[in-house]
Amino acid sequence: MTRQDNIIVREVTIDDLKYTQDAVTVVNSAYSTNEGWTSEHEFYEGDRAGPEEIENSIQENGISCRLFFAFDIIEEGKEKLIGTLRIDPPTSGLKGHGEVRLFSILPAYQSKGVGGRLVRFALARMQELGYTDCIMRVFETRTVLINWYKKMGFEENGERLEFHDQERLRVKGTTFITLQKTF
Ligand SMILES: CC(C)(COP(=O)(O)OP(=O)(O)OC[C@H]1O[C@@H](n2cnc3c(N)ncnc32)[C@H](O)[C@@H]1OP(=O)(O)O)[C@@H](O)C(=O)NCCC(=O)NCCS
Repeated sequence: MTRQDNIIVREVTIDDLKYTQDAVTVVNSAYSTNEGWTSEHEFYEGDRAGPEEIENSIQENGISCRLFFAFDIIEEGKEKLIGTLRIDPPTSGLKGHGEVRLFSILPAYQSKGVGGRLVRFALARMQELGYTDCIMRVFETRTVLINWYKKMGFEENGERLEFHDQERLRVKGTTFITLQKTF
């Protein structure tokens, strides 16, 4: 766990099932609206995640994935969920590799450094756990985000992937590039 100011970042526990609906709200308000400074709203229609996916991720933490939450401590004993990040096995299936998914910060809390804290916390935890590489899939036109990941040591690995659900794509033909950081 890391605490700076009133923000806490930590890996989930089974008790966090009580935050399932809050996590759905954080993920979808970040990914699927244009309330924040950057989102995936312009790329595809519909929500990014539902309660089943979040619930499964909390139950599967430490088994098939690692899920991290960021909280704002409103007052003693009262925390508000403001960020999520999950590490999954990559689509490539490569051993030792983990892929960042559901990286989201509640729009009202964006641009304050919380996303940076969350991703750095997850990267440090991956190293502790013995991962060799972290993978990130980003829509190719998201230059600001891509440049920020590059500042953190990610590099394009040449892989390009199509969005899994072409029907939902608003701009046909938009593809992901894959960024990779080797520890
Ligand atoms: C991407 C996201 C998680 C970043 O969270 P955040 O809390 O806003 O991030 P930070 O405040 O730590 O800023 C991280 C970097 O983003 C950039 N950034 C932040 N706010 C910005 C703004 N308003 N305009 C332009 N760039 C900005 C900067 O490069 C910053 O790095 P720096 O502080 O080293 O300069 C958040 O915007 C989000 O939830 N977006 C929607 C979901 C999404 O797109 N996830 C990523 C999928 S690949």
